[in-house]
Amino acid sequence: MEMNNYSFQYQVVETAEKLAIQDFQLMETARKVAESAYAPYSKFYVGAAALLQNGAIVTGTNQENASYPVGICAERSLLATAATLHPNIPIVTMAITYHNHNAESNKPVAPCGMCRQSLLEYEIRQQQSFRLLLSGVEGNVIVIEKASMLLPLSFTKHDLL
Ligand code: THU
Repeated sequence: MEMNNYSFQYQVVETAEKLAIQDFQLMETARKVAESAYAPYSKFYVGAAALLQNGAIVTGTNQENASYPVGICAERSLLATAATLHPNIPIVTMAITYHNHNAESNKPVAPCGMCRQSLLEYEIRQQQSFRLLLSGVEGNVIVIEKASMLLPLSFTKHDLL
């Protein structure tokens, strides 16, 4: 029997202010845009902001629906916007944050499983990885070097061949 192991390293930075200025500004942009999410059902307002290789900033928010499964997460709304407005321009870094209007929101949260699959596909599509910065309204920031690190043993286009 063979046993395999998967682990990855990530950085925990005390506050966004301690990040490099470009990363700090990206997180601040995500925090601002989170408030324009449409989240009347969950009250969980998510904001994402990405820096593209051409210097453009693209944002996304979660958009809920009375028919709950119809809603879309902030990360995937960002990816659709980036691919539409800036086709073939790679994402370099994506900041993701949230504000739970019903609870304290200082602990970073990580993308949901469906978004992890989309983030992975986007890395494959642009043939380069991108960093994730995860944080709440304030407090710790988790820095992950490659979005795909969040989805080991993944299903990709190579499995379809
Ligand atoms: N949500 C996101 O936008 N991104 C995530 O990675 C986690 C969840 C949204 C979906 C829903 O509108 C609300 O947060 C509560 O699940």
